[in-house]
Amino acid sequence: MCGIVGYAGDRPCRDILFRGLRKLEYRGYDSAGISVITEGQFDLLHSVGNLDRLEEILNQMPNQSHLGIAHTRWATHGRPSNENAHPHLDCTGRFAIVLNGIVENYLALREQLQGEGHEFTSETDAEVVAHLIERAFRGDLREAAAEAFRQMEGHFTYVAITTEDPETMVAVRKETPLVIGLGEKENFLASAVTAFLSETRTVIFPDDAELVTVTRDSVVITDLDGNVIERQAEEVDWDEDAAEKGGYETFMLKEINEQPTALADTLAERVTHEGRVELEGLGLEDGDIRRLRQVIIVACGTSHHAGLVGKYALEKWARLPVEIDVASEFRYRDPVIGPDTLTIAITQSGETADTLAAMRLARQAGSKVLAITNIVGSQATREADGVLFTRAGLEIGVAATKTFEAQVLAVILLALYLAEVRGHLADEYVKQLTEEIRRVPTMLNGYLEDGRLAQIEAVATRYAKERFFLYLGRNIGLPVCMEGALKLKEISYIPSESYAAGEMKHGPIALLDEGSPVVVVATDGHTYEKLISNIQEVKARGAHVIAVASEGNKAIADMADEVFYVPKTDEVLSPLLATVPLQLFAYYVATANGESVDQPRNLAKTVTVE
Ligand code: F6R
Repeated sequence: MCGIVGYAGDRPCRDILFRGLRKLEYRGYDSAGISVITEGQFDLLHSVGNLDRLEEILNQMPNQSHLGIAHTRWATHGRPSNENAHPHLDCTGRFAIVLNGIVENYLALREQLQGEGHEFTSETDAEVVAHLIERAFRGDLREAAAEAFRQMEGHFTYVAITTEDPETMVAVRKETPLVIGLGEKENFLASAVTAFLSETRTVIFPDDAELVTVTRDSVVITDLDGNVIERQAEEVDWDEDAAEKGGYETFMLKEINEQPTALADTLAERVTHEGRVELEGLGLEDGDIRRLRQVIIVACGTSHHAGLVGKYALEKWARLPVEIDVASEFRYRDPVIGPDTLTIAITQSGETADTLAAMRLARQAGSKVLAITNIVGSQATREADGVLFTRAGLEIGVAATKTFEAQVLAVILLALYLAEVRGHLADEYVKQLTEEIRRVPTMLNGYLEDGRLAQIEAVATRYAKERFFLYLGRNIGLPVCMEGALKLKEISYIPSESYAAGEMKHGPIALLDEGSPVVVVATDGHTYEKLISNIQEVKARGAHVIAVASEGNKAIADMADEVFYVPKTDEVLSPLLATVPLQLFAYYVATANGESVDQPRNLAKTVTVE
């Protein structure tokens, strides 16, 4: 997730572009850059680190230009560096582009372009766009940008400018945001309204595959063939704070709604056209993978819950024994580790002190260490033998949501990949699974758009004053319960306990009384019938059951007091869907009680102390 700004107008644009970037800093800040056209030539600035670094050198660029583009980066392909920072130029230095998103077929395009003599200066997927436009340019930037778009797969937005036509910028989007701001003798482009809200509130939201051609005095929207499309401008009445949150009340709610994108980004390029999983950068040869005897997963908090899902997937598919521990305990144990052990450290931030210590212990004992993290360049990436990046984008809400979903998907992909290399799964079975995995982001998107939130909010509001919640689940539903219970306690401060449903009668059932709320994850799976017996036991004590169940399961409505239905999918993938109503339930309980969900008390987003 990166931030893009473009300006064409009467005013000198350097500082306008920089101010726009500042407003988009929440989208990522590992490097940044600005490119403007002055007297027919590009001026270009790149910096590594947050926008303070760019600000320090901003004066090196004259503030005379009236057209330019700018970018704040959240690295996905290529480490944060000056070379990888946007804007990117083509070989001839006539075209500059900024891109947000992922170009999935960039490797094939890059090889093709290199074969034709194009020279690349970065490791990014984005740079191909500059070269594609250079190759396609016949005097019309819009046509060249359309031609580039036709050849690209993935989900992205880009803005291009050229010294051949220094009054014009062209932008196009595919499943990622782009908004046009209309001003007096000036127009803006950006990833989010917030970038230009202090300048104008008149906006147009173009659709996918619509070319937007912007000059000081005009905005023209066409389809890829150049046919003009009429789009009505609208006025936005958001304040700055709401705009930064994309119109959502909180970052947490915004991030819950970004989960389909986080999943699509984490999946991008990792499943081949033949339906196989391909993961790069793991630091493991096929021989290493075949020799593995054991996997250890270390993580904290929500990341630990993602690891628990991974345990089920790794055992089921890769047939590897998996031991999992919270990093703060693991680091003080004397674990049995050998050269045939793979240690997987899961950490969103890549900076959690306990997880880093656990990684060091595992490495010293001779294990290879693979980090699953969301942050390029984080400490975990420096200390691991290999890295599998989640691509959830920057998460601001302290309670992890979209990074959890991306971690679960990453560990599922890893399990499938190890299974493939170890020859444990038939190609056809893997293909069916990867087809199903590809459907999940769309299913989740449909789920979030389907008006279900209102039902969850209504139930949460009714139960918001309860003083204790018990969460029950079995098998792969258990980590979902643990995550649901953690979300509830951290943002609403209501005590909650998550338990393996089969263990309930060994103690926790004593907690239940008339009306006690019990949340049960009862999605379809091989332990479903067992779980139904547990629901009956709970009901017999007068408890109220709130069930998460698979769509189509009508029978559960007769047993449970409330049902949150989620789309039906493969059992191992079910946490990707079943967790979401529990995130929302926790969210709405907390907001009903007036709690500050983005910054819960006593918590920090990154725990760099022991
Ligand atoms: C809960 C939450 C924490 C983190 C934990 C580990 O919502 O965010 O439990 O999951 O502090 O953090 P990372 O993944 O950065 O190592």
